[in-house]
Amino acid sequence: MKEDAPFQFRRLGAAVGAEIVDLDLSRPVNDQTFAAVRRAFLESNGLLVFRDQHITPEQHIAFSRRFGPLMIHVLDKFLLPGHPEILRVSNVVENGEPIGLGDAGRIWHSDLSYTAEPSLGSLLYALEIPSEGGDTSFANMADAYDALPAEIKQRIDGKSAVHSYGHSYAKFSGSKFRPKLTEKQKNEVAEVVHPVVRTHPESGRKALFVNEGFTSRIVGLPDAESRELLELLFAHSTQPQFVYRHHWQDHDLLFWDNRCTIHLAHGCPPELRRHMHRTTVKGDAPY
Ligand code: OGA
Ligand code: MN
Repeated sequence: MKEDAPFQFRRLGAAVGAEIVDLDLSRPVNDQTFAAVRRAFLESNGLLVFRDQHITPEQHIAFSRRFGPLMIHVLDKFLLPGHPEILRVSNVVENGEPIGLGDAGRIWHSDLSYTAEPSLGSLLYALEIPSEGGDTSFANMADAYDALPAEIKQRIDGKSAVHSYGHSYAKFSGSKFRPKLTEKQKNEVAEVVHPVVRTHPESGRKALFVNEGFTSRIVGLPDAESRELLELLFAHSTQPQFVYRHHWQDHDLLFWDNRCTIHLAHGCPPELRRHMHRTTVKGDAPY
């Protein structure tokens, strides 16, 4: 980072992640500071951790919107009342009903990769963190792509893959956090096809764009070969050298890049409260 950035920037993991301290997002962020945040986001390889934030839902939404339009999650039951731009990622149960998506992200994934114009990035704000567990891991998909053997790069060159919300949803059937989808919701999350390797529109780097959560098959390959290749790519991309594991601090706000990272929720003991708010910024169609 340039010396004159109006905040401190410190790398967290070797693969991905940097923290920003001394920046108060409850106060207006001027254009110059915002430009420095965008640079920091790119330099972090796809994950910024803003420490010690005390922001309202309105401020969370307004800051998120500066990166692009916001997406509304299909599980409308878990949207923050009055603020549908915020998805509650929470295991809190009130009057016998979960108020949020308590088992979000338990398989490696990129948020909303099952949409035609998937997310640029997500901003997840920790309001309550458990005393134990609840970590989130992030994998650098550009490094993962670079490190692939030439033979695998050749096999995936020019290939596309199907991304499907229903594909992973089915794995959670029975979870109290997974209401049965209505026909309208199913239509809203119809399958889409994306390139297996995408180019990051800002850095120009190539990154793998398949994830275990939402990628169901590679187009044009026999089923068995598609499965074998996807499993190889999933296992490859989540190796320790590509991963940073985040242990949350109170009032962290994380902003990750869904175009060049995937992430995984490790979960926490169910009796401990974990309560977060997420906004999701829309991105471009991958190419
Ligand atoms: C998400 C997500 C991970 C976590 O909010 O998109 O995957 O650890 N969350 O809560
Ligand atoms: Mn997620």
